[in-house]
Amino acid sequence: FPVSLIRNFSIIAHIDHGKSTLADRLLELTGTIQKGKGQPQYLDKLQVERERGITVKAQTATMFYDLKNEDDGSSEQYLLNLIDTPGHVDFSYEVSRSLAACQGVLLVVDATQGIQAQTVANFYLAFEANLTIIPVINKIDQATADPERVKAQLKTMFDLEPEDALLTSAKTGQGLSEVLPAVIKRIPPPTGRCHLPLRMLILDSYFDEYRGVICNGAVVDGSIKKGDRIASVATGQTYDVLDTGILHPELTSTGMLQTGQVGYLIAGLKATQEARVGDTMHHANVSVEALPGFKPAKHMVFAGIYPADGSDFEALAQAMERLTCNDASVSATKETSAALGIGFRCGFLGLLHMDVFHQRLEQEFGAQVIATAPTVPYIFEFQDGSCSKLNVQNPALLPSQPAQKIVSAMEPVVVATIITPSEHVGALITLCSDRRGEQLEFSYIDSQRALLKYRLPLREVVVDFYSVLKSITSGYASFDYDDDGYQEADLVKVDVLLNGQAVDALSTIVHQAKSVRTGREIVDKLKKVLDRQMFEVTIQAAVGSKVIARESISALRKNVLAKCYGGDVTRKRKLLDKQKEGKKRMKRFGSVDIPQEAFHDLLKQ
Ligand code: GTP
Repeated sequence: FPVSLIRNFSIIAHIDHGKSTLADRLLELTGTIQKGKGQPQYLDKLQVERERGITVKAQTATMFYDLKNEDDGSSEQYLLNLIDTPGHVDFSYEVSRSLAACQGVLLVVDATQGIQAQTVANFYLAFEANLTIIPVINKIDQATADPERVKAQLKTMFDLEPEDALLTSAKTGQGLSEVLPAVIKRIPPPTGRCHLPLRMLILDSYFDEYRGVICNGAVVDGSIKKGDRIASVATGQTYDVLDTGILHPELTSTGMLQTGQVGYLIAGLKATQEARVGDTMHHANVSVEALPGFKPAKHMVFAGIYPADGSDFEALAQAMERLTCNDASVSATKETSAALGIGFRCGFLGLLHMDVFHQRLEQEFGAQVIATAPTVPYIFEFQDGSCSKLNVQNPALLPSQPAQKIVSAMEPVVVATIITPSEHVGALITLCSDRRGEQLEFSYIDSQRALLKYRLPLREVVVDFYSVLKSITSGYASFDYDDDGYQEADLVKVDVLLNGQAVDALSTIVHQAKSVRTGREIVDKLKKVLDRQMFEVTIQAAVGSKVIARESISALRKNVLAKCYGGDVTRKRKLLDKQKEGKKRMKRFGSVDIPQEAFHDLLKQ
């Protein structure tokens, strides 16, 4: 395929505006997948994606499309690479990676909802990358669709011309035949050169049980074929190309990939760390300049992940290794907790990302884990002659009564964009100020919708901001945020003590003004989730040596068999098994059994 007949594009949109459905329709239209056959949302392959109805991982598919020449009736075949991307704010890192391989995007907007917060965020990602943007107004089959209003919003917000918008229904098929011709006519072909030495940008990598590490990538310059000896710019390691080909949509070996093509590469990479996303592959012995790559993922949320049963650490370590290969945006380092044993401290892009990772560990790798309450990364500076800095990704690492004076405490902040129907503006302003927000902008995008911009502490955002925002606006407001560095804050560590002993995995760092409220909430929550034990348990929250909240649970001798007195043996066994099952998710601390929920749900308000 000459480069002039290749187009690489991505579909970007706010969550649920119809990206994956539109991608399915385009794959059907080009005969890449059969109509009505296979699963809906073809590109959402992961079990979590299907269950949650969201796209987590960007996927690529190659399609062939014959474009008819209206004048002489002849046609020419084009090779189109479509990259489906996730819409949720946590996964914008995947979006920016996908865009590095594209020259243009379809910006999908739901005709009933109009521009939402992630439409804005995704538009700017594409705009800053200088990509051609084709607006697609989708769901025009719906009774409440108002494409004219969306066109006006696109003009006001992004200066996109109303006549450039395509109108589609991915449900009924209306307008779909216009989409691929527009892709071919408006989006330029890739810019690489065939005669230059090979440079292949690694976009993604994952582990396949049968074939080992598989990389997806874009051939920017030159070409690659089976049998070539290649090298990584990042590591200098060399490999033999065992197989290469396109994703059509399954791996389809072609033996070679040329300039402008997107496809897969199997080259006997062993450790997943060898397959670095953003790395440049080139022919061994030919030196090339590395491609720009990607900025490293910024971890917004950290949590400890521990085996539910201490002896399973090795199994967990193996599952973590595999899964971090599939998801390069997670960081994992070993850590030890007095309460939970040996585990990992993991960095995530956000709470949804963390939940998805947790779910994948369990579903795809059968790992039984306990995840601790999430925290954001703080920076503390102590006075010890000179100042010494401590990055705190785990609250347990901050001394409860530091020997040195804390000279400064810094917390991460974000700039949040909220788009809402105007009637909810008041409630949202109240919410943002309760969360220590500072207003940066307040404007209207049309007569009924307002845009608010706030600088907010990340901690106030990650926990439950999104769900509160949804509930006070009946689901009508949308929200997106972007990292904005650090700000000084009056922070304290809240310790949790059970029978007088601090449980390191339950400590948390909060703003001074909220410490008593948080301490009270934690104690109340623990009281609810801790089963009554054989003896009285005192639960305390403390800042330094000062107890700020206290509760106790009275003793109970627990006997599950009491219910089947005299009884039926099978029922008795079932009850005992059930009790054992429940125990798996418990951690014994001292003599108190702490269930999984105690760790995970603590921060949810
Ligand atoms: P994420 O992958 O989670 O970011 O969402 P998405 O943008 O890929 O949206 P998805 O394709 O999953 O569609 C969301 C919902 O809208 C699904 O229930 C679709 O069936 C529905 N939907 C998509 N396109 C249309 C359309 O043109 N008309 C109607 N009526 N419904 C549609």
